[in-house]
Amino acid sequence: MAKSIVLITGCSSGFGMLSAARLAAAGHTVYATLRDLTKQERLLKETARRGTEVKILPLDVTDDASIAPVVARITEEHGKLDVLVNNAGYGLGGAFEDLLEAEFRAQMETNFFGVLKMIRNCLPLLRRSSAAKIINLSSIAGLSGIPGLSAYNASKFALEGFSEALSHELAVFGISVTLIEPGSYQTDVQKNSRLAQNFYNPDSPYLEYSKRLLASTQRRVARRDGNPEDIAGLIERVINTQKPAMRYIAGRDARVLRFLHRTLPFGAYSRFLNRVLSR
Ligand SMILES: NC(=O)c1ccc[n+]([C@@H]2O[C@H](COP(=O)([O-])OP(=O)(O)OC[C@H]3O[C@@H](n4cnc5c(N)ncnc54)[C@H](OP(=O)(O)O)[C@@H]3O)[C@@H](O)[C@H]2O)c1
Repeated sequence: MAKSIVLITGCSSGFGMLSAARLAAAGHTVYATLRDLTKQERLLKETARRGTEVKILPLDVTDDASIAPVVARITEEHGKLDVLVNNAGYGLGGAFEDLLEAEFRAQMETNFFGVLKMIRNCLPLLRRSSAAKIINLSSIAGLSGIPGLSAYNASKFALEGFSEALSHELAVFGISVTLIEPGSYQTDVQKNSRLAQNFYNPDSPYLEYSKRLLASTQRRVARRDGNPEDIAGLIERVINTQKPAMRYIAGRDARVLRFLHRTLPFGAYSRFLNRVLSR
């Protein structure tokens, strides 16, 4: 299998960290980027455990000035990029009315516009590869609205539509675009998730509902069985596939939700979600 030059965002933990280590161990050249280099300890341990190394560089997906030097470094060292994995992202919880516009926009800045910035900066280098791939970490929340997650939903739905359109355009250059749509996996995503500033505002008409949603989410997260290494394995499979699919749904919970979303009348689906998620 040909070895690729790979750039990954958000490698301090979770899918990004595991993918970086796994791909490097498989012989790929990996540029593993983190927005905060003081958080590289776990990545270093993970690569050492697998007897491999990655190139660690600072990169914040919301900051063009931090993306340019990474692209310049890859250009200088390889003159091309084969795979871009847009992984960086975070969750934002809270009923829409409790979310400040600034919080909503910040969510879009990272999860959606951050991906656009990465792709815009990397496309000239990707075009120099004979079979480049863009892999975007979406979510089952990019396919189904979930109460209390409207901002996260908006960012991932936007990513879905954008990626589809982009895949048509880039087919002309032989560049594939793939969306990975995981359900719930044990990473730092919960710990790193933010809550609306007004989440616990006693005047919020959503307070009790939001608290029930949060408690239910925390219970489900505590017993979720998704192993994040499976997503790293899926990313590796996509890289090794000549013509990868547009979408890969990952995890039993995601597949069940997708099935219900497609088959139930919308009202019944909505009642199901509210019953299951806010009890
Ligand atoms: N785990 C799940 O259940 C799940 C399910 C569906 C989709 N996803 C998606 O999968 C992706 C990875 O999530 P994960 O589960 O691996 O979560 P994670 O462990 O919290 O990792 C997220 C990574 O993104 C980084 N990040 C956040 N904002 C950034 C920015 N502005 N610039 C650069 N890096 C930034 C974080 O860095 P810091 O350490 O500096 O914050 C961290 O390295 C996300 O896009 C998430 O939405 C996860």
